[in-house]
Amino acid sequence: MEVIIQPSAEAVAKIAARMLARQLLENPASVLGLATGSTPLLLYRELIAMRLDWSRVTTFNLDEYVGLPRTHAQSYHSFMWKNLFRHINIARENIHIPDGMAEDIPKCCADYERRIRDAGGIDLQVLGIGTDGHIGFNEPTSSLASRTRIKTLAERTRRDNARFFGSEDAVPRHVITMGIGTIMEARLNLLLAFGENKARAIAEAVEGPVSSAHPASMLQMHPVVKVCLDEAAASRLQRIDYYRWVYANKPAWQAI
Ligand code: F6R
Repeated sequence: MEVIIQPSAEAVAKIAARMLARQLLENPASVLGLATGSTPLLLYRELIAMRLDWSRVTTFNLDEYVGLPRTHAQSYHSFMWKNLFRHINIARENIHIPDGMAEDIPKCCADYERRIRDAGGIDLQVLGIGTDGHIGFNEPTSSLASRTRIKTLAERTRRDNARFFGSEDAVPRHVITMGIGTIMEARLNLLLAFGENKARAIAEAVEGPVSSAHPASMLQMHPVVKVCLDEAAASRLQRIDYYRWVYANKPAWQAI
C-alpha cells in the first residue's frame, strides 16, 4: 500500500486525477471502476476540467441501490450522469452500473461479473470508504472473496447516507455491489478518504489486521493500492511520518 497524505481534499483530488489521466493516456481504451458518494466528487470535477478523451473508455460502477429507478435523484445512475458522464465524451454503451430494478437480481449480478471479465478486467478502480470500513457496499463481515451480489446495508451506513435522502427511513435497505473478490481483481485500486470521520476506518484499513470485520483491510493483500488522504483522514495513522517520508523520497521515475 502506498499512503499519500495531502494538505487538503482538493490537493488529493488533483493527484488522483493525474493518476487517472496517466492511465487514460497510457491506454485510451482503459476499463475504469468508479465510485459514488461525496468522496469522488472533487476528483470528477478535476477530470472534467482536464478534458480527457473518454471515447474508448469503459466504466463499471461499484454499486447501486435496489428498488430505485434510474431516474430517481439519489440513484447512482443519476449521480454518475449528473457528476461525470454528461460532461465527458464517453460512449453510452461503455457505461455499466448495476440495475437496482432488475427482476432477477442473481442473474443481473452474474451478468455484471461476466461483463467485467469480457471487458478484460478493471485497470483502475476508484474507491471511497464507509465509516464502518466498507468498500463498495461490502459491509463488515462480508466475505473477503465475495463477488457482485445483493447486500443489506448496515444501520450505520443508512444513517450516514440519510443526508442524501432527507431521512434514514428513505434510504433503501438493499444494494447491488461488486464483491471484495471483484475489487481485488482490479489491477490498481485507488482509495480516497477525506475528513476526520474517516480517520478510524482508514487506520483499520491500512494498519489493522486483515479481517472481514474491516472489509477495506483486505486491500493490504492487493499488490497495487494507493491510499490518498487529506490530513484529517490520515490523523489516526500510527506510521504517518513514515508515509510522508516515503512519499517525499520517491524516485523521480515513480513520481505521480
Ligand atoms: C459508493 C461506495 C461506497 C462509498 C462510501 C463512502 O459507490 O461504493 O463505498 O464510497 O460509502 O461514501 P462517501 O464518499 O459519501 O463518504
